[in-house]
Amino acid sequence: MRFHVLTLFPGMFEGPMSESIIARAQSQGLVEVNLHDIRDHARDKHRQVDDYGFGGGPGMVMKPAPIFEAVEHVKSSSSLAASTPVVLLSPQGKRLDQETVERFAEHTDLILICGRYEGVDERVRQHLATEEISIGDYVLAGGELAAMVVIDAVARLVPGVVGSAESPANDTFTTGLLQHPLYTRPTEYRDWNVPEVLLSGNHAEIDRWRRQEALRRTLIQRPDLLERISAGRLTDEDRRYLEELREG
Ligand code: ADE
Repeated sequence: MRFHVLTLFPGMFEGPMSESIIARAQSQGLVEVNLHDIRDHARDKHRQVDDYGFGGGPGMVMKPAPIFEAVEHVKSSSSLAASTPVVLLSPQGKRLDQETVERFAEHTDLILICGRYEGVDERVRQHLATEEISIGDYVLAGGELAAMVVIDAVARLVPGVVGSAESPANDTFTTGLLQHPLYTRPTEYRDWNVPEVLLSGNHAEIDRWRRQEALRRTLIQRPDLLERISAGRLTDEDRRYLEELREG
């Protein structure tokens, strides 16, 4: 999987991309993160990448030319499929979810454009980006952190990036429920004990407890997930347990 990131601040990626799972994935050749400085594609002698917005108002707008030319440079130098998504990160985008992450992971390349300032010239949105993604309903100083979120979430779905022990098949948004509680040693910490069932060695009971805790947690923290969960994912026993919880 190759990520092609267009940014005015490539340095922001250095730390996060050189630690942990994403660093290992790159050294194993499973993932590439190619950073492109949009300013390298500014043509004028001041290398200007932003300008005043027509119609007035506060803030600067990112000029279209450097962004178009940076994307064209990436496309011509990396032999990309015509279907390669060109993703603009902005708070105006569709909110990122696991379904979109899974769709991105089916591609071999992903182009990520990080917006800055007040935003980007509308022609980038209309004639260059194939989609626009927001990572949540809040405004960041720029799209860089959002691009790193996309890279992190997509990269861990690339086969081999995450070990089978931490298999994405058990992920919260893949199962449709939040994760059950986790405990490790010691069994007793400051008077707080690990639930007996987890120490029992009875795997059927442990599975049942985990399932119920996942249902309970989802009902409390994210009832919206239960409304949207597809019918086949809940067993009759799950439904009965949820009913009990709701009746309190
Ligand atoms: N740029 C600024 N805020 C953003 C957000 N919430 N998501 C994606 N890109 C952004």
